[in-house]
Amino acid sequence: MHSLEVKGQSLPINTTISVPADKSISHRAIIFSALAQGTTIINNFLTAEDTLNTLKIFRQLGVPISRKSSTVIVTGVGLYGLKKTDVVLNSGNSGTGIRLILGVLAGQNFSSVITGDESIRTRPMKRVVLPLTQMGAVFYSQDKNKQWVSALNQEKITAPLKVVPGKGLSAIKYEMPVSSAQVKSAVLLAGLYAKGVTEVIDPGFSRDHTERTLAHFGVNIVRAGRSVLLHPARVLVSPGSIQVPADISSAAFWMVLGLIAKNARIILPNVGLNPTRTGILSVLKQMGADLIISNESQKEGEPIGDIEVKSSKLQAIKIEGDIVPTLIDEIPIIAVAAAFAQGKTVIRNAAELRVKESDRIKTTIEFLRNFGVEVEELEDGLIITGQCKLKPATCDSHKDHRIAMSCAIMSSVLTGTSSIIDVDCISTSYPGFIENLRTINREARLH
Ligand code: S3P
Repeated sequence: MHSLEVKGQSLPINTTISVPADKSISHRAIIFSALAQGTTIINNFLTAEDTLNTLKIFRQLGVPISRKSSTVIVTGVGLYGLKKTDVVLNSGNSGTGIRLILGVLAGQNFSSVITGDESIRTRPMKRVVLPLTQMGAVFYSQDKNKQWVSALNQEKITAPLKVVPGKGLSAIKYEMPVSSAQVKSAVLLAGLYAKGVTEVIDPGFSRDHTERTLAHFGVNIVRAGRSVLLHPARVLVSPGSIQVPADISSAAFWMVLGLIAKNARIILPNVGLNPTRTGILSVLKQMGADLIISNESQKEGEPIGDIEVKSSKLQAIKIEGDIVPTLIDEIPIIAVAAAFAQGKTVIRNAAELRVKESDRIKTTIEFLRNFGVEVEELEDGLIITGQCKLKPATCDSHKDHRIAMSCAIMSSVLTGTSSIIDVDCISTSYPGFIENLRTINREARLH
């Protein structure tokens, strides 16, 4: 277990940071390429623990995949070409990995077992098990004695999960109780194997990378407002190659650093600007951020562009409603920006934060308070008082990558030395983060 020591600094910052590839798109690139006909070259694949676990799982399911650095070549086996494996599939820390793959496993005519790390084994899986069961899939989970029992008989459904073939899948019309791209994607993936037209209705506007990728692979998918209709596909056709943009969720850390540091200018090239992910840009602009987007273009169905931020005077705002799913992963780092803004920032309708890699309402409040920020906990969010008297602190990541990186950014602008305990989790999404931080702050050290 490593800790990160960060001594705050006030030197001017004028730099360009190439942040790693998008995690959500990298998972989907592997999954859809594996199920397609033809070979797909994935350029700029995210080589982080979460996405490498997805890659490994598809290898274990019999898909030939080679990787040289961030270039991955997937020889698709077609929708019906996956092979049974006796190994227990392991998605590690990845909620996206396990939930999307459950959608794929639900459509197979063989049984499989999938699990994840300690954190994943506590995270809610009922949200995917229920709709997939309605489609005809059969799930088992383990009781206290580690015996396999029908998952539906369990109050809380968690991994490990066994998926066994039922009598084939039928399409459903599914109204999601919460806006979740992972649930939507699991149902759509199972829908590829179902009889009839699968419809998912989203109460919000969760990220739509699955819909875009499916269309890119030639699947007939129609979107109307909050509804997505998937027509059953016989084949997915490989587009030949996929270029993964940089991850806006990773770029967010440097955006906020550039805004809260004095004399700073940070450029982040080729960042994915999918409108279902850019809530953070709207919020930061509303807070008064000097933030410019340039070189906008379209890469294989996903918009990209360069983001430039400069030191700014920030104002508190209210964040609630439909924008929340479009910035859900950025809330810990938005909370850091709020700590430097004038006034009280209110974040609501974000109860989903409670079931992420950690309870992010609790863990965000804990680190902010350690740094001297006044924060109030709400059931579905938090209220952050900006411009309190801040001090360096020792913070625990709670094994949550986004909490660890948010603490590192905050520490970077405070006078004195802060310590972040247990930062190994950063490698689940951003293995080069500390290296990038050290190009700005030589006083960041791993212990
Ligand atoms: C993701 C969806 C979001 C997000 C997660 C990635 C995805 O989760 O928080 O980091 O790639 O589909 P939910 O679907 O649970 O909202």
